[in-house]
Amino acid sequence: MNKYRIPFNKPFHVPQAEEYVLDALRSDGQCGNHKWCKKCADLLKDKFGFKEVFLVPSGTDALEMGCILAGLKPGDEVILPSYTFSSTGNAVVMQGAKPVFCEINPDTMNIDPDQIESLITPRTRMILPIDYAGIPCDLERINPIAEKYGLTVFVDAAQSLNSKDAQGYWSGARTPIAAFSCHETKNFGCGEGGLLSVNNPDWILQANFIQEKGTDRRLVLDGVKSKYGWVTKGSSFLLSDILAAMLYAQFEAMDEITALRGKVVDAYSTLFEPFVQKGCVKVPRPPAGTILNNHAFFVIFDSPKNRQAFLAGLKEWDISAYIGYVPLHSSTMGLSLGYKAEDLPLTENLAARVVRLPLYADLGREGLSYMIDRMGYVMSKLYSC
Ligand SMILES: Cc1ncc(COP(=O)(O)O)c(C=O)c1O
Repeated sequence: MNKYRIPFNKPFHVPQAEEYVLDALRSDGQCGNHKWCKKCADLLKDKFGFKEVFLVPSGTDALEMGCILAGLKPGDEVILPSYTFSSTGNAVVMQGAKPVFCEINPDTMNIDPDQIESLITPRTRMILPIDYAGIPCDLERINPIAEKYGLTVFVDAAQSLNSKDAQGYWSGARTPIAAFSCHETKNFGCGEGGLLSVNNPDWILQANFIQEKGTDRRLVLDGVKSKYGWVTKGSSFLLSDILAAMLYAQFEAMDEITALRGKVVDAYSTLFEPFVQKGCVKVPRPPAGTILNNHAFFVIFDSPKNRQAFLAGLKEWDISAYIGYVPLHSSTMGLSLGYKAEDLPLTENLAARVVRLPLYADLGREGLSYMIDRMGYVMSKLYSC
């Protein structure tokens, strides 16, 4: 009998959330942008320096709201990594724009800035990188390319709240807009939720309109107008204040959660380093100076066969690991858009060899040494050392 069952992910329970949610339940303002939404937005603006923060029902919604805000139109082209979640691609196609898939860098699994310029055409409007595993994408390289060609950079920062890049910028603070997820699988979650950070002051009012079903209700709330109406394209991009109350407790515990997850990341780094030295596997190699939020840890095996053997070995010990994304360009939808698997050989090759390991804050409190011991056993058998 195994001592522990190790799931891939577990939401972290913050006791204060119960008190906050009860407060929201008893209040007369339970829809979006009430007390707890404002408290969340203020906390994030203070900590990360975002100009404005919109609490939305999911990271997927944050991506769609951002694409509307950036004025994406049918026929526009958007450059994004193929190695991402469907929501990144959906946000583009929902506006009638075309996703143009780019290769990734194996050190981070993020978009490879060296490959971006060759994909730019007169129709390109946006670069949409992601911060895979909480590792900030290379904006030091991406932003100048965007500036040269007059493109918007919109970061899918679903996984990277509370990470800092090698130049010392918080994730989401270095581009006009960035989308975050607060899904239960993320570091700070409320079941389903998300955020859009808006740093271009000229876009903030328009973002309010888009969030409020395309109406100028914000002007009525601010006492500028007496009656609101339909002014632009929008949707219902509001998180309920009840979920925001839960989320606020998570944000208050941000340092504790990050530190607990860090213990797991440190244990993985120590376990895998000898196998990295021998050339059997690769692990994340963020640029020096990056401060991670410890969202995820991935291992790239030397062959798809060894990846399978590793996963099968973990299964015997009731440890859940996960193969990562199916690249978008070779997914059913990607193929229907005209892409072929061979279009991005490096992405295909890496996606067939990568594993994402279990990582959640409670694992830093219980079960960690058991799991590391079992994982070490599986690795030693696999690479006979
Ligand atoms: C890179 C990326 N983008 C977008 C999303 C979607 O976020 P949500 O589940 O909050 O809609 C995810 C979720 O895992 C993600 O990993």
